Amino acid sequence: MSGDNGRQPLLEGRNVSKFFGGLAALSQVDFAVYPNEVMGLIGPNGSGKTTLFDCLSRVQKISEGQVIFKGVDITDKKPYQVAHMGLSRTFQVIRVYRKMTVLENMLLSRQYGGQGLLKLFRPAPEETEGRARELIKFLLLDSVIHEKAGNLSGGQKRLLEIGMALMPDPDLILLDEATSGVNPTLVETIKDRIRELNTTYKKTFLLIEHNIHFIADLCSRVFVLNYGQKLAEGTPQEIMDNEAVIEAYFGAEGG
Ligand SMILES: Nc1ncnc2c1ncn2[C@@H]1O[C@H](COP(=O)(O)OP(=O)(O)OP(=O)(O)O)[C@@H](O)[C@H]1O
Ligand SMILES: [Mg+2]
Repeated sequence: MSGDNGRQPLLEGRNVSKFFGGLAALSQVDFAVYPNEVMGLIGPNGSGKTTLFDCLSRVQKISEGQVIFKGVDITDKKPYQVAHMGLSRTFQVIRVYRKMTVLENMLLSRQYGGQGLLKLFRPAPEETEGRARELIKFLLLDSVIHEKAGNLSGGQKRLLEIGMALMPDPDLILLDEATSGVNPTLVETIKDRIRELNTTYKKTFLLIEHNIHFIADLCSRVFVLNYGQKLAEGTPQEIMDNEAVIEAYFGAEGG
């Protein structure tokens, strides 16, 4: 795809479609995420954002089209294979082990080797625990490191989930509504940590968000889905001024 000074995309979707029975949740979506950018993915409820993440992380089969990550066609790869290649994600509905502590959750992060229950019985290597502790500190969760995840606030759970996604040291992180259910102070913390991960640690992000201020503060580009189709793409300002986007979110004037 063109449009970014000829740079190769880190992740690229070509004509991606996803059908659930007769419903086209995604229709021929083309997009690209470039190395070291923070890109926003927005759209009204049910527009296909989470479905796109499911297709990219290979949790869902892609019906038609192709997904390329680091120049490799990952259309038919398994979730653990793309995770190994450096693509991590979080989920709209928080997935943490509520009865386990923050540290235990980090060590059990499903992307760190092993399959299913087996990994529960294998002690984490020392360097894995060291990395988990460093990330917990980085995410300002050290005061709750031994707290059960079920007792954390919404924002702390989101931070923990981001930490779990970071455990395998991915290059690209997909965050599905990282600020939903989060109090304003922790929204700022999450924003600040994403910015630091992007600028200092060169991580690339694709963020699904309903909080437009969050998008405007963090993202260089925004991609808009509506009814499973690409509606617009541009800078946050261009998107906020885009008539078609305003129409999709708020409906026709007087309608
Ligand atoms: N597993 C599934 N089976 C059938 N239909 C599905 C499935 N997952 C999603 N859909 C449908 O696909 C469409 C897109 O849903 P999706 O969850 O991707 O939207 P979204 O943009 O993430 O919405 P929201 O902002 O509410 O999270 C919706 O019509 C939804 O009902
Ligand atoms: Mg969603």
